Amino acid sequence: MKQELEAIRAKALEAIVGAEKAEDLEALRVQYLGKKGELTAVLKQMGKLSAEERPVIGQLANEVRAKLEEGVETRAKELAAKALEMKLKAEAVDVTIPGKAVKIGKKHPMYQVLDEIKDIFVGMGFEILEDREVETADYNFTKLNCLEGHPAREWTDTFYFTEDSSILLRTQTSPMQIHAMETRELPIRILAPGRVYRKDEVDATHSPMFHQIEGMVIDKGVTMADLKGTLNAVMEELYGKGTVTRFRPHHFPFTEPSCEMDIQCHKCHGAGCPTCKGEGWIEVLGAGMVHPKVLEGCGIDSNVYSGWAFGMGLERLALGHFKIGDLRLIFENDVRFLEQF
Ligand code: DAH
Repeated sequence: MKQELEAIRAKALEAIVGAEKAEDLEALRVQYLGKKGELTAVLKQMGKLSAEERPVIGQLANEVRAKLEEGVETRAKELAAKALEMKLKAEAVDVTIPGKAVKIGKKHPMYQVLDEIKDIFVGMGFEILEDREVETADYNFTKLNCLEGHPAREWTDTFYFTEDSSILLRTQTSPMQIHAMETRELPIRILAPGRVYRKDEVDATHSPMFHQIEGMVIDKGVTMADLKGTLNAVMEELYGKGTVTRFRPHHFPFTEPSCEMDIQCHKCHGAGCPTCKGEGWIEVLGAGMVHPKVLEGCGIDSNVYSGWAFGMGLERLALGHFKIGDLRLIFENDVRFLEQF
Protein backbone atom coordinates (compact mmCIF):
# COMPACT_ATOMS: atom_id res chain seq x y z
CA MET A 1 0.00 0.00 0.00
CA LYS A 2 2.89 2.26 0.76
CA GLN A 3 4.22 1.69 -2.75
CA GLU A 4 0.81 2.33 -4.23
CA LEU A 5 0.58 5.67 -2.43
CA GLU A 6 4.04 6.70 -3.51
CA ALA A 7 3.31 5.73 -7.11
CA ILE A 8 0.14 7.85 -7.03
CA ARG A 9 2.08 10.77 -5.60
CA ALA A 10 4.77 10.60 -8.29
CA LYS A 11 2.35 10.12 -11.18
CA ALA A 12 -0.12 12.76 -9.98
CA LEU A 13 2.50 15.42 -9.25
CA GLU A 14 4.06 14.99 -12.66
CA ALA A 15 0.68 15.31 -14.36
CA ILE A 16 -0.30 18.36 -12.22
CA VAL A 17 2.93 20.24 -12.95
CA GLY A 18 2.54 19.50 -16.65
CA ALA A 19 -1.14 20.62 -16.89
CA GLU A 20 -1.43 23.37 -19.49
CA LYS A 21 -5.07 24.34 -19.04
CA ALA A 22 -7.31 25.06 -16.05
CA GLU A 23 -9.80 22.43 -17.29
CA ASP A 24 -7.06 19.76 -17.44
CA LEU A 25 -5.94 20.65 -13.94
CA GLU A 26 -9.49 20.35 -12.60
CA ALA A 27 -9.81 16.93 -14.30
CA LEU A 28 -6.61 15.79 -12.55
CA ARG A 29 -7.91 17.02 -9.19
CA VAL A 30 -11.05 14.95 -9.65
CA GLN A 31 -9.05 11.99 -10.91
CA TYR A 32 -6.82 11.81 -7.81
CA LEU A 33 -8.51 13.72 -4.99
CA GLY A 34 -12.19 13.38 -5.88
CA LYS A 35 -14.66 11.13 -3.99
CA LYS A 36 -14.17 8.43 -6.59
CA GLY A 37 -10.51 9.37 -7.10
CA GLU A 38 -7.50 7.11 -7.00
CA LEU A 39 -6.23 8.31 -3.60
CA THR A 40 -9.65 7.84 -2.01
CA ALA A 41 -9.85 4.34 -3.49
CA VAL A 42 -6.59 3.40 -1.75
CA LEU A 43 -7.67 4.91 1.57
CA LYS A 44 -10.86 2.85 1.47
CA GLN A 45 -8.69 -0.22 1.88
CA MET A 46 -7.16 1.05 5.16
CA GLY A 47 -9.44 -1.33 7.12
CA LYS A 48 -7.46 -4.29 5.83
CA LEU A 49 -4.28 -3.06 7.48
CA SER A 50 -2.87 -4.23 10.82
CA ALA A 51 -2.98 -1.92 13.86
CA GLU A 52 0.78 -1.17 13.55
CA GLU A 53 0.62 -0.37 9.84
CA ARG A 54 -2.50 1.82 9.97
CA PRO A 55 -0.98 4.98 11.59
CA VAL A 56 2.09 4.82 9.35
CA ILE A 57 0.10 4.44 6.15
CA GLY A 58 -2.47 6.96 7.46
CA GLN A 59 0.21 9.56 7.93
CA LEU A 60 1.67 8.87 4.49
CA ALA A 61 -1.78 9.12 2.91
CA ASN A 62 -2.33 12.49 4.56
CA GLU A 63 1.05 13.69 3.34
CA VAL A 64 0.28 12.60 -0.22
CA ARG A 65 -3.15 14.31 -0.11
CA ALA A 66 -1.56 17.53 1.22
CA LYS A 67 1.18 17.40 -1.41
CA LEU A 68 -1.31 16.91 -4.25
CA GLU A 69 -3.60 19.67 -2.97
CA GLU A 70 -0.69 22.02 -2.71
CA GLY A 71 0.46 21.01 -6.22
CA VAL A 72 -2.99 21.72 -7.68
CA GLU A 73 -3.19 25.10 -5.93
CA THR A 74 0.28 26.18 -7.08
CA ARG A 75 -0.35 25.11 -10.66
CA ALA A 76 -3.76 26.86 -10.67
CA LYS A 77 -2.08 30.13 -9.65
CA GLU A 78 0.58 29.70 -12.34
CA LEU A 79 -2.04 29.02 -15.01
CA ALA A 80 -4.11 32.05 -13.94
CA ALA A 81 -1.04 34.30 -14.11
CA LYS A 82 -0.18 32.92 -17.54
CA ALA A 83 -3.74 33.50 -18.79
CA LEU A 84 -3.70 37.08 -17.52
CA GLU A 85 -0.36 37.75 -19.17
CA MET A 86 -1.64 36.42 -22.50
CA LYS A 87 -4.79 38.50 -22.24
CA LEU A 88 -2.78 41.66 -21.56
CA LYS A 89 -0.49 40.90 -24.48
CA ALA A 90 -3.42 40.34 -26.81
CA GLU A 91 -5.09 43.58 -25.75
CA ALA A 92 -1.95 45.69 -25.73
CA VAL A 93 -2.09 49.01 -27.62
CA ASP A 94 1.07 50.14 -29.31
CA VAL A 95 1.05 53.84 -28.60
CA THR A 96 4.07 54.38 -30.84
CA ILE A 97 2.17 53.48 -34.05
CA PRO A 98 1.53 56.73 -35.95
CA GLY A 99 -2.20 57.67 -35.95
CA LYS A 100 -4.38 58.16 -39.01
CA ALA A 101 -4.66 61.89 -39.63
CA VAL A 102 -8.27 63.09 -39.78
CA LYS A 103 -8.75 65.40 -42.74
CA ILE A 104 -10.93 68.32 -41.80
CA GLY A 105 -12.90 69.87 -44.63
CA LYS A 106 -13.29 73.56 -45.30
CA LYS A 107 -16.11 75.89 -46.04
CA HIS A 108 -16.73 76.33 -49.76
CA PRO A 109 -15.18 79.63 -50.95
CA MET A 110 -18.57 80.96 -52.02
CA TYR A 111 -20.03 80.33 -48.57
CA GLN A 112 -17.00 82.01 -47.02
CA VAL A 113 -17.95 85.15 -48.96
CA LEU A 114 -21.61 84.72 -48.01
CA ASP A 115 -20.68 84.47 -44.32
CA GLU A 116 -18.72 87.70 -44.60
CA ILE A 117 -21.68 89.47 -46.19
CA LYS A 118 -24.13 88.07 -43.64
CA ASP A 119 -21.86 89.32 -40.84
CA ILE A 120 -21.79 92.82 -42.29
CA PHE A 121 -25.58 93.03 -42.60
CA VAL A 122 -26.29 91.39 -39.23
CA GLY A 123 -23.97 94.01 -37.74
CA MET A 124 -26.31 96.65 -39.20
CA GLY A 125 -29.41 95.10 -37.67
CA PHE A 126 -30.60 92.98 -40.60
CA GLU A 127 -32.21 89.58 -40.06
CA ILE A 128 -31.26 86.60 -42.24
CA LEU A 129 -34.20 84.92 -44.00
CA GLU A 130 -33.91 81.64 -45.85
CA ASP A 131 -36.94 80.12 -47.47
CA ARG A 132 -38.51 78.12 -50.30
CA GLU A 133 -37.01 77.75 -53.77
CA VAL A 134 -40.28 76.58 -55.32
CA GLU A 135 -42.53 79.60 -55.81
CA THR A 136 -45.79 80.54 -57.41
CA ALA A 137 -45.74 82.85 -60.41
CA ASP A 138 -47.73 85.17 -58.18
CA TYR A 139 -44.83 85.70 -55.75
CA ASN A 140 -42.02 85.41 -58.29
CA PHE A 141 -43.63 87.86 -60.75
CA THR A 142 -47.12 89.27 -60.22
CA LYS A 143 -46.75 90.66 -56.69
CA LEU A 144 -43.41 92.12 -57.81
CA ASN A 145 -45.28 94.16 -60.40
CA CYS A 146 -44.40 91.89 -63.34
CA LEU A 147 -47.96 91.36 -64.53
CA GLU A 148 -48.90 88.69 -67.04
CA GLY A 149 -47.48 89.55 -70.43
CA HIS A 150 -44.72 91.61 -68.81
CA PRO A 151 -41.44 91.14 -70.69
CA ALA A 152 -39.72 90.07 -67.42
CA ARG A 153 -41.64 86.80 -67.62
CA GLU A 154 -40.08 86.22 -71.01
CA TRP A 155 -36.52 87.32 -70.49
CA THR A 156 -36.14 85.28 -67.43
CA ASP A 157 -36.33 81.82 -68.96
CA THR A 158 -38.15 79.99 -66.23
CA PHE A 159 -38.37 76.35 -65.09
CA TYR A 160 -42.12 75.81 -64.71
CA PHE A 161 -43.65 72.83 -62.92
CA THR A 162 -47.13 73.23 -64.31
CA GLU A 163 -48.65 73.68 -67.77
CA ASP A 164 -50.43 76.83 -66.63
CA SER A 165 -47.11 78.43 -65.58
CA SER A 166 -48.33 78.93 -62.02
CA ILE A 167 -45.62 77.03 -60.07
CA LEU A 168 -41.94 77.42 -60.78
CA LEU A 169 -38.37 77.39 -59.50
CA ARG A 170 -37.80 80.95 -58.39
CA THR A 171 -35.82 82.98 -60.92
CA GLN A 172 -34.77 85.55 -58.31
CA THR A 173 -34.72 85.99 -54.53
CA SER A 174 -37.02 89.03 -54.81
CA PRO A 175 -40.17 87.02 -53.86
CA MET A 176 -38.62 87.00 -50.37
CA GLN A 177 -39.49 90.70 -50.23
CA ILE A 178 -43.18 89.82 -50.57
CA HIS A 179 -43.04 87.01 -47.98
CA ALA A 180 -41.31 89.36 -45.56
CA MET A 181 -43.79 92.21 -46.07
CA GLU A 182 -46.79 89.88 -45.76
CA THR A 183 -45.66 88.14 -42.59
CA ARG A 184 -43.43 90.48 -40.59
CA GLU A 185 -44.08 93.49 -38.43
CA LEU A 186 -42.79 96.85 -39.59
CA PRO A 187 -40.12 98.11 -39.72
CA ILE A 188 -38.38 95.38 -41.74
CA ARG A 189 -34.67 94.82 -42.34
CA ILE A 190 -33.94 91.49 -44.03
CA LEU A 191 -31.17 89.76 -45.94
CA ALA A 192 -32.32 86.70 -47.92
CA PRO A 193 -29.63 84.63 -49.62
CA GLY A 194 -30.46 81.54 -51.63
CA ARG A 195 -30.51 79.56 -54.86
CA VAL A 196 -32.30 80.75 -57.98
CA TYR A 197 -32.87 78.99 -61.31
CA ARG A 198 -32.92 80.06 -64.95
CA LYS A 199 -32.73 78.12 -68.19
CA ASP A 200 -29.17 79.13 -69.04
CA GLU A 201 -26.61 76.94 -70.76
CA VAL A 202 -23.54 76.24 -68.63
CA ASP A 203 -20.48 78.30 -69.59
CA ALA A 204 -17.74 80.31 -67.86
CA THR A 205 -20.25 82.90 -66.61
CA HIS A 206 -23.64 81.10 -66.66
CA SER A 207 -25.28 78.26 -64.77
CA PRO A 208 -28.95 77.15 -64.61
CA MET A 209 -28.65 77.37 -60.81
CA PHE A 210 -26.93 80.20 -59.05
CA HIS A 211 -27.19 82.22 -55.86
CA GLN A 212 -28.55 85.66 -55.13
CA ILE A 213 -28.65 87.75 -52.00
CA GLU A 214 -31.74 89.90 -51.56
CA GLY A 215 -31.84 92.77 -49.12
CA MET A 216 -34.71 95.02 -48.11
CA VAL A 217 -35.50 97.80 -45.64
CA ILE A 218 -39.03 99.11 -45.02
CA ASP A 219 -39.60 101.91 -42.52
CA LYS A 220 -40.98 105.42 -42.21
CA GLY A 221 -39.02 108.08 -44.06
CA VAL A 222 -36.61 105.75 -45.85
CA THR A 223 -35.00 107.41 -48.89
CA MET A 224 -32.60 106.71 -51.75
CA ALA A 225 -29.89 108.33 -49.58
CA ASP A 226 -30.28 105.45 -47.09
CA LEU A 227 -29.92 102.97 -49.96
CA LYS A 228 -26.72 104.60 -51.18
CA GLY A 229 -25.27 105.14 -47.72
CA THR A 230 -25.89 101.58 -46.61
CA LEU A 231 -24.62 99.93 -49.79
CA ASN A 232 -21.54 102.19 -49.86
CA ALA A 233 -20.76 101.18 -46.28
CA VAL A 234 -21.18 97.49 -47.19
CA MET A 235 -18.80 97.80 -50.15
CA GLU A 236 -16.19 99.51 -47.97
CA GLU A 237 -16.45 96.60 -45.52
CA LEU A 238 -16.12 94.07 -48.34
CA TYR A 239 -13.50 95.73 -50.52
CA GLY A 240 -11.74 98.10 -48.14
CA LYS A 241 -12.00 101.73 -47.00
CA GLY A 242 -12.21 104.27 -49.81
CA THR A 243 -13.87 101.86 -52.28
CA VAL A 244 -15.48 104.07 -54.94
CA THR A 245 -18.99 103.24 -56.17
CA ARG A 246 -21.33 104.65 -58.78
CA PHE A 247 -25.06 104.29 -59.30
CA ARG A 248 -26.50 104.10 -62.84
CA PRO A 249 -30.21 104.46 -63.64
CA HIS A 250 -31.82 101.16 -64.58
CA HIS A 251 -35.24 99.53 -64.73
CA PHE A 252 -36.74 96.87 -62.50
CA PRO A 253 -40.51 96.39 -62.36
CA PHE A 254 -40.62 96.26 -58.54
CA THR A 255 -38.56 99.37 -57.77
CA GLU A 256 -38.99 103.03 -58.68
CA PRO A 257 -36.56 104.61 -59.18
CA SER A 258 -34.22 101.70 -59.99
CA CYS A 259 -30.47 101.62 -60.36
CA GLU A 260 -27.46 99.41 -60.81
CA MET A 261 -24.42 99.83 -58.61
CA ASP A 262 -20.84 99.45 -59.80
CA ILE A 263 -17.65 99.49 -57.78
CA GLN A 264 -14.54 101.05 -59.20
CA CYS A 265 -12.12 98.24 -60.05
CA HIS A 266 -10.03 97.61 -56.93
CA LYS A 267 -7.17 96.43 -59.12
CA CYS A 268 -6.70 99.34 -61.55
CA HIS A 269 -8.75 102.05 -59.80
CA GLY A 270 -10.73 102.85 -62.91
CA ALA A 271 -7.97 102.78 -65.53
CA GLY A 272 -9.13 99.50 -67.05
CA CYS A 273 -7.48 96.09 -66.62
CA PRO A 274 -8.23 92.37 -67.18
CA THR A 275 -10.09 92.12 -63.84
CA CYS A 276 -12.70 94.69 -64.93
CA LYS A 277 -12.40 93.69 -68.61
CA GLY A 278 -11.04 97.14 -69.44
CA GLU A 279 -14.15 98.90 -68.07
CA GLY A 280 -12.63 100.38 -64.92
CA TRP A 281 -15.88 99.44 -63.13
CA ILE A 282 -17.45 96.19 -61.96
CA GLU A 283 -21.22 95.81 -61.74
CA VAL A 284 -22.22 94.36 -58.37
CA LEU A 285 -25.97 94.68 -57.85
CA GLY A 286 -29.39 95.96 -58.85
CA ALA A 287 -31.38 98.09 -56.42
CA GLY A 288 -34.06 100.70 -56.04
CA MET A 289 -36.86 102.16 -53.96
CA VAL A 290 -39.61 99.56 -53.42
CA HIS A 291 -42.43 100.40 -55.86
CA PRO A 292 -45.54 101.85 -54.13
CA LYS A 293 -47.67 99.26 -55.97
CA VAL A 294 -45.61 96.46 -54.40
CA LEU A 295 -45.97 97.99 -50.91
CA GLU A 296 -49.74 98.46 -51.33
CA GLY A 297 -50.10 94.88 -52.68
CA CYS A 298 -48.66 93.68 -49.35
CA GLY A 299 -51.02 95.89 -47.35
CA ILE A 300 -48.43 98.55 -46.49
CA ASP A 301 -49.52 102.21 -46.73
CA SER A 302 -47.07 103.73 -49.23
CA ASN A 303 -47.92 107.23 -47.96
CA VAL A 304 -46.53 106.34 -44.53
CA TYR A 305 -43.86 103.75 -45.31
CA SER A 306 -41.15 103.56 -47.92
CA GLY A 307 -38.27 101.18 -48.51
CA TRP A 308 -35.32 100.18 -50.57
CA ALA A 309 -34.17 96.82 -51.86
CA PHE A 310 -31.30 95.23 -53.70
CA GLY A 311 -30.34 91.94 -55.25
CA MET A 312 -26.85 90.72 -56.03
CA GLY A 313 -25.28 87.62 -57.52
CA LEU A 314 -23.18 85.69 -55.03
CA GLU A 315 -21.09 83.67 -57.50
CA ARG A 316 -19.83 86.75 -59.30
CA LEU A 317 -18.83 88.25 -55.96
CA ALA A 318 -16.95 85.08 -54.97
CA LEU A 319 -15.21 84.88 -58.36
CA GLY A 320 -14.02 88.48 -57.94
CA HIS A 321 -13.07 88.00 -54.30
CA PHE A 322 -10.87 84.96 -54.95
CA LYS A 323 -9.86 85.94 -58.51
CA ILE A 324 -11.42 82.78 -59.96
CA GLY A 325 -11.81 82.92 -63.73
CA ASP A 326 -14.52 80.32 -64.41
CA LEU A 327 -17.92 79.92 -62.75
CA ARG A 328 -17.90 76.16 -63.38
CA LEU A 329 -15.11 75.71 -60.83
CA ILE A 330 -17.49 76.93 -58.13
CA PHE A 331 -19.94 74.09 -58.79
CA GLU A 332 -17.67 71.21 -59.81
CA ASN A 333 -16.56 70.73 -56.21
CA ASP A 334 -13.16 69.36 -57.13
CA VAL A 335 -11.38 69.09 -53.79
CA ARG A 336 -8.02 70.00 -55.39
CA PHE A 337 -9.59 73.33 -56.35
CA LEU A 338 -11.56 73.95 -53.17
CA GLU A 339 -8.55 73.24 -50.91
CA GLN A 340 -6.85 76.39 -52.17
CA PHE A 341 -9.19 78.78 -50.36
N1 DAH B 1 -34.19 90.45 -58.81
C1 DAH B 1 -33.30 91.21 -59.67
C2 DAH B 1 -32.63 90.27 -60.67
O1 DAH B 1 -32.73 89.08 -60.52
C3 DAH B 1 -32.23 91.91 -58.86
C4 DAH B 1 -32.81 93.06 -58.06
C5 DAH B 1 -32.83 94.32 -58.60
C6 DAH B 1 -33.32 92.86 -56.80
C7 DAH B 1 -33.35 95.41 -57.90
C8 DAH B 1 -33.84 93.93 -56.09
C9 DAH B 1 -33.84 95.20 -56.65
O2 DAH B 1 -34.33 93.79 -54.87
O3 DAH B 1 -34.34 96.23 -55.93
O4 DAH B 1 -32.04 90.73 -61.60
